[in-house]
Amino acid sequence: MAKPKVFVTRVILDQGMNLIAGFCDAQVWPAELPPGRELIVERARGAEGLLCLLTDTIDGEIMDAIGPQLKVISNHAVGFDNIAVADATARGIPVGNTPGILTDATADMAFALLMATGRQVVAGDRTVRSGGWKTWSPSFMLGADFTGATLGLVGFGRIGRAVARRATGFGMHILYYDPQPAGSEPGVAAEPADLDALLRAADFVSIHAPLNEETRHLVDAEFLAKMKPTAILVNTARGPIVDQKALYEALKSRRIFAAGLDVTDPEPLPMDSPLLELDNLVVCPHIASASWATRARMSLMAAENLIAGLKGERLPNCVNPEVYAAMP
Ligand code: GLV
Repeated sequence: MAKPKVFVTRVILDQGMNLIAGFCDAQVWPAELPPGRELIVERARGAEGLLCLLTDTIDGEIMDAIGPQLKVISNHAVGFDNIAVADATARGIPVGNTPGILTDATADMAFALLMATGRQVVAGDRTVRSGGWKTWSPSFMLGADFTGATLGLVGFGRIGRAVARRATGFGMHILYYDPQPAGSEPGVAAEPADLDALLRAADFVSIHAPLNEETRHLVDAEFLAKMKPTAILVNTARGPIVDQKALYEALKSRRIFAAGLDVTDPEPLPMDSPLLELDNLVVCPHIASASWATRARMSLMAAENLIAGLKGERLPNCVNPEVYAAMP
């Protein structure tokens, strides 16, 4: 029997790739950069499955251009704001994602950015390399304390709670804001707070919310104005949650102490972005889930979702389960 045709928009790790190769007639986009809209349509036309990355925007028009035989879209990411999920549901197409398995890696990265900014790790490295290290000095490169400091988590889902577990080990006081709280976290003394109270109290604010219409530019000038002048902002969620112009102003004027971003808007951040002029910003290229084991697990989970969809089975991780109710 002929294997189902699928298009994979980038080379993923072997664990997932091997599974796909065993079950599918896979065409894989081989280049380093994403294929873009037209090439996705060209290569995926007639495919029953699409495995895409967060760098691919997949909307109803693309789904239609691929064709009515398209049975499943599997996103190699936990976030799925790059996919028009309602368009997929309307066409009876289940959409898969990769939740849970990148929680710890992402929480580690959030903590790395909290510490890198709070203790000036990157600025320190730059100082040494540029010959700015003249002597040990009592007031040289001072930064934030973690023990006893207040961490404000905006979003208390899987990743926010994993950051809270780490902060507990650092002796931090933890506040969280989440309009849809998922309950308490065992072993963690985190208190719910409204957003204003959290921003006014927090020494560190870390964003762990999905990107949607409620969270787009949630971090704006007003949000930043409520933060302490010594406070630090970290974003490992999605770039558009932060209004970057407002962040630039807040960092430039030292309205807040520093920021650490693993995600930007757009991605990659253009080399002429004014943010790159700032010495109180640490920016990384969207690598929070980039640990060996995590990316291997993501490739497998994305492959499993793809194959389940091709077989007409329920996806192990489906973001639009309502698609099944809508099916005849
Ligand atoms: C990474 O940002 C993801 O959503 O998996």
